[in-house]
Amino acid sequence: MRKKRKNRSRNYEAKLITSSDPKSPISEAFRTIRTNIEFSSIDKQIKNILVTSTIPSEGKSTIAANLGVTMAAAGKRVLLIDADLRNPTLGKYFNKSSHVGLTNLLLDDNLGWEEVMLSPGQENLYLLTSGPIPPNPAELIGSNKMRSFVAAVSESFDVVLVDSPPVLAVADASILANYLDGVILVVGTGDATHEQTLAAKEQLQKAKANILGVILNKAPMQEGYYYHYYYGSR
Ligand SMILES: Nc1ncnc2c1ncn2[C@@H]1O[C@H](COP(=O)(O)OP(=O)(O)OP(=O)(O)O)[C@@H](O)[C@H]1O
Ligand SMILES: [Mg+2]
Repeated sequence: MRKKRKNRSRNYEAKLITSSDPKSPISEAFRTIRTNIEFSSIDKQIKNILVTSTIPSEGKSTIAANLGVTMAAAGKRVLLIDADLRNPTLGKYFNKSSHVGLTNLLLDDNLGWEEVMLSPGQENLYLLTSGPIPPNPAELIGSNKMRSFVAAVSESFDVVLVDSPPVLAVADASILANYLDGVILVVGTGDATHEQTLAAKEQLQKAKANILGVILNKAPMQEGYYYHYYYGSR
């Protein structure tokens, strides 16, 4: 039983490739994404960003965690928030429990965010896990308290990355997209159909989302790419 749990957390740590292997082409791809996000808006500074997808398991949490590590490595103060209050996993990437987090903050007026925020062990990187799973996630996500909280942390951090449930499943992601500065849509190769992805894009647009771009995930790597890139980047 004990061994199983250890292996599971090690599996998640392996998914944090930007931390375990910063020279890999995947880590380099995350640095390119980081630069693209920095240049995505000239007039308005993008402080808080929603990471979402069309359907489950396209890679939202993996991308959010690795992007957080990559941005913090560049010296930005980054806060990762697990706002997937239905299937929270962000804590697992950093071997942290999700028992206390966002939902505690939203439900307890006496709790300050500094009290529930975690340091996953990397300079400049902070994590707010989901907290206990509530019966009414969309209500919490859409509450004034959540909006003020996001506004407050956006003042204190350079970047706030928000993980969420998928767009087509529940309203949470569209609600968040409406009041966050930007949205990244993760598209897992071969996961959602074109029609589903288009429907998700339309739903986000209806919510007045500022879609910064799409991250194509799980794309097959070109043969020889690793070799070429690794040596080419030195
Ligand atoms: N680029 C990738 N290559 C291989 N496997 C991947 C990749 N990205 C994600 N995965 C795997 O796909 C699964 C789903 O990833 P993840 O949990 O990040 O997706 P999600 O969109 O957050 O899912 P959910 O909708 O359940 O929150 C995980 O097992 C993850 O390790
Ligand atoms: Mg997830």
